[in-house]
Amino acid sequence: MTSTAAQRIEQLRVAINEHNYRYYVLDEPSVPDAEYDRLFKELKALEEAHPELVSLDSPTQRVGAEALSAFGQVRHEIPMLSLGNAFAEDDLRDFDRRVREGLGELLPAGDLFGAGALVEYACEPKLDGLAVSLLYENGVLVRGATRGDGSTGEDISSNVRTVRNIPLRLHGEGWPRVLEVRGEVFMSRAGFEALNARAIEAGGKTFANPRNAAAGSLRQLDPKVTASRPLEFCSYGIGQFEGELPDTHTGILEALKGWGLPISHELQLARGVDEALAYYRVIGAKRDSLAYEIDGVVFKVNRLDWQRELGFRAREPRWAIAHKFPAQEELTELLDVEFQVGRTGAVTPVARLRPVQVAGVTVSNATLHNMDEVARLGLMIGDTVIIRRAGDVIPQVMQVVLERRPADARPVAIPQSCPICGSHVERTQLVKRSKGKASLSEGSIYRCVGRLSCQAQLKQAIIHFVSRRAMDIDGLGDKIVEQLVDVELVKSPADLYTLSFEQVVGLEGFAELSTRNLLAAIAASRQPPLARFIFALGIPDVGEETAKLLARALGSLTRIAAALPEVLTWLPDVGLEVAHEIHSFFEDAHNRTVIAQLRERGVELQEEGELHAEFAACATLAELLNKLNIAGIAATGAKNLAEAAGSLEGVIALSQDWLSLNVTKGLSEKARQGLREFFAVPANADKARTIEAQLREFGMHWQSAKKVVAGLPLAGQTWVLTGTLEAMSRDEGKARLEALGAKVAGSVSAKTHCVVAGPGAGSKLAKAGELGVRVLDEQAFLELLAQYGG
Ligand code: IVH
Repeated sequence: MTSTAAQRIEQLRVAINEHNYRYYVLDEPSVPDAEYDRLFKELKALEEAHPELVSLDSPTQRVGAEALSAFGQVRHEIPMLSLGNAFAEDDLRDFDRRVREGLGELLPAGDLFGAGALVEYACEPKLDGLAVSLLYENGVLVRGATRGDGSTGEDISSNVRTVRNIPLRLHGEGWPRVLEVRGEVFMSRAGFEALNARAIEAGGKTFANPRNAAAGSLRQLDPKVTASRPLEFCSYGIGQFEGELPDTHTGILEALKGWGLPISHELQLARGVDEALAYYRVIGAKRDSLAYEIDGVVFKVNRLDWQRELGFRAREPRWAIAHKFPAQEELTELLDVEFQVGRTGAVTPVARLRPVQVAGVTVSNATLHNMDEVARLGLMIGDTVIIRRAGDVIPQVMQVVLERRPADARPVAIPQSCPICGSHVERTQLVKRSKGKASLSEGSIYRCVGRLSCQAQLKQAIIHFVSRRAMDIDGLGDKIVEQLVDVELVKSPADLYTLSFEQVVGLEGFAELSTRNLLAAIAASRQPPLARFIFALGIPDVGEETAKLLARALGSLTRIAAALPEVLTWLPDVGLEVAHEIHSFFEDAHNRTVIAQLRERGVELQEEGELHAEFAACATLAELLNKLNIAGIAATGAKNLAEAAGSLEGVIALSQDWLSLNVTKGLSEKARQGLREFFAVPANADKARTIEAQLREFGMHWQSAKKVVAGLPLAGQTWVLTGTLEAMSRDEGKARLEALGAKVAGSVSAKTHCVVAGPGAGSKLAKAGELGVRVLDEQAFLELLAQYGG
């Protein structure tokens, strides 16, 4: 038995290792994840049943061993050295010259023109992580160590085992009996961002950059923590070995790849320094689009015999060099924090910095996003901060260097009033709405309440309004808008359409012709398509796409402006949050006035029309019920309920009819309770009715379940009348019930909703009692009819 288990375990380990190899090294997964998971589960189960068969190199052994109290020390048989740096092209040419001189006679003669022979260089990106040594004995990973001071490092064996793309057992065959692989452990940008996002969610500390995150994760005494971090490994060389290896650097890396060790996808050979420089430029151009951060490229003389010949100087090889990219991070001083007011009034802090060169550009301002970010960074004015500028991204403040905080550092204070217009600044907690339940999220923003009376907001609003994709008013550049606002000729977008020749011609930079051109451009913008106009309004969160969608689906400004948030969420991709923004924008009296003025002043919307057919056809009662966010009612419950009740009024009636509700199929107890409680609040019922009314008014083809009489409160119910009624005949009672949508039957069964029993009722009343069917006396019956207006 055990021998078959042992065989199966071995089979599974081989299969899983093969899949890992294809996935991590070749980038060609051969089986779907589900199949991989199945194999993995089977192996885990077998190992649990046979703990004696668990081995250190089993793929299950990555979860993280017990925590340590301290790391052991590891002596590196061959020291782990560092690299000299080249910053400029000339530095690299000097390096190449030194290499060629060092090789002297060994280098074959150059060409007839005396250009000299070329040295082949292996080129790799310089990953920004931390150097690690992995020791394999007989193909099994036995130790992992940090570089430390180069001679002695720390034993991080348990931690490296948790790094997914480090093989615990070498793949294939032909590997040296002892093989020390060296490379970089790093974190991809995506992994880093996910890790920080998790930390923010949990209210924990974030890492300033992927390098710190990788280093912090690898040097954890608890390997389970390391296991939870998205670390990766890339091999770039070897240390000690016993056995045969290829005689070039690229040959060795290819061999490592064959044995299951990941190597760089960007590995290339360059013939001579010019090709090396070309590689530097190509990788430099790709730098920001790589999945991980690099801080340069590394060039290594490819022939190992030449490497040996060149040897070392101090602690750096003469045969390799790092050609660095301009640094993306620098230190500078935070001189002040100023506040800018954006289009929607958000008051955002901006860092004013002592100017510093970062990646070849002088940086004197950096974004701080919001006050939460200031708090997260623990920023004070006067602090020394790390500034980062990557690619085209706006410079950012990454971290405070606390050790350098001066004694007179000042806290950053949020202004009480708007720095532009002096209006009150209001703190709004960010609201997260999901499934209708609004909840306050951690974040908050500060907003100037001045709106268009705040010149900063007004300027931004007009700049947006006239922009190319909005009203497309040619010749109204930012500077002109600022002037028009400053001299108070324009106090709202509607004022653009009252500008006269005399008013404009006097402005700075305007002559007769340019004034005429501007006024002509404004006039030409008077007939915008609806979508552009909606976009131009600058509703928060409504970009061009949402504007187009609103215009296409609803067809008119009147409908868009009137639409209830819930109705807006019928549009694809419009969530409740955006829906609320749109709704409250049009609720705002000032916005209504500006829109009315625009129309009065000749803005005529084009492409207005009917409700889009596709949108018109998508309303169902079930969906409406689902959108009401009644506790316990999700899509399926809503569907069952819609089928049972047939109409919104039916649902409302049913919800308050304890007995009928209890016999309605397809509803959980929670759903029944949720329904009862929801509609017991009159405002909720009214809200539902308003939404329904609006859907009808917009011309949506209201779809209800076919088998029931739509719109009637007792639709789908079966009633029985028995005994004598005093206030009316039985026939009249029957007719009144039918008018409310009920079916009236002659006998009582389990399907009967209710029995109306007058004096003299006999067997039917008894049967109702047996079956637990609800019974009403005449008085209760009359009250019910009155309640439904029947
Ligand atoms: S080779 C003797 N290759 O850079 C040569 N190093 O400044 C040893 N690094 O400690 C290093 N990517 O952590 C080499 N492709 C690469 C590298 C690389 C990153 C790091 C490594 C080393 C440091 C040297």
